[in-house]
Amino acid sequence: MSAGPEEISIALARLRVGGLVAFPTETVYGLGADARSADAVRRVFAVKGRPSTNPLIVHVSGEEMARKVAGAWPREASALARAFWPGPLSIIVPRGAGIPGEVTAGGPTMAVRCPEHPITLALLEAFGGPLVGPSANPSGRISPTRAEHVREAFSEEDVYVLDGGPCTGGIESTVVSVVGGGEGGVRVLRPGLIGADAIAKALGVASVVMEAKRAGGETAMESPGQLLSHYAPRTAAHLFAKERWAEVAARAERSRVVVVSPRGRTLAKGVHSTVIAMPADAAGYAARLYEALREADAVGAEAIYVEDPLEAGDDGWRTLGAAVMDRLTRATTPM
Ligand code: TXA
Ligand code: MG
Repeated sequence: MSAGPEEISIALARLRVGGLVAFPTETVYGLGADARSADAVRRVFAVKGRPSTNPLIVHVSGEEMARKVAGAWPREASALARAFWPGPLSIIVPRGAGIPGEVTAGGPTMAVRCPEHPITLALLEAFGGPLVGPSANPSGRISPTRAEHVREAFSEEDVYVLDGGPCTGGIESTVVSVVGGGEGGVRVLRPGLIGADAIAKALGVASVVMEAKRAGGETAMESPGQLLSHYAPRTAAHLFAKERWAEVAARAERSRVVVVSPRGRTLAKGVHSTVIAMPADAAGYAARLYEALREADAVGAEAIYVEDPLEAGDDGWRTLGAAVMDRLTRATTPM
């Protein structure tokens, strides 16, 4: 059931005394708390089991609130906010004086984002201030795309959950920095639903730097949350190229595994392994990805085999491929 005015009032009461409220967004559910309260923010880190070195995203109701909470609001930030907010883009700007160091892991910058969900926009408006919002999962686990996922992970006393239905985007926001990059220094630190091309276009530049660390890559990482193993199921999970389907099918006959594939794979009759069929289009795939990984994990199989979903020459995959592969390479090891 979707949260209404009554649930929003309960959420506000919790937030005003430094409590935690999970809120829906277009990407994943966030674990909200008053971004101006060091105590409330510490509670978020404690409940998630998140390393204090990993900074949080500050959620705002729009550009006006962003200007108030940021230490500076560069021209690029304004251009990006106008092009993509409310939407799945977190913009790194200098930290404002009202934001405690706990939010930014002691750093001089902060991430701000205005999420696109009517319930959470209403919550932010009524609260009248910024809310931190890491994904509402225990640190290192799969991000939640439904209210039930949050309820399964945290107690009602610790976290009040606002149900806004399933998240339509399904993977976390793009993180882009407009500070500290030197000349033309706009850099994508985490790929997400908004592609680098769209960001460059909104800024009127030819391209932006992709600094997102690939699993196994060497790029020095500024976004400390970008640990390599992340978003991971408990079951051993492997990523395989579509050319290797015959090998995976053979393994699926020998032992009990779960295959996650967008290519209509089927297994021989009598085999105890199962297939989770994924949408073939990039947006549909991203929206279903975390839920499918949870379902695969819940089977309790010996292993999960995730088929590389990329389709060369497809526009949707051109935009979302980097983000989806970023999450898949963190959730799995290569076969
Ligand atoms: O879509 C999203 O962004 C979701 C929803 C709830 O808004 N939130 C989310 O938060 O994914 P979280 O905490 O799971 O991921 C935040 C990411 C981390 O990779 C973190 O390191 C990075 O943003 N980040 C936050 N502040 C930063 C900063 N000042 N500089 C660089 N990276 C930062
Ligand atoms: Mg997260």
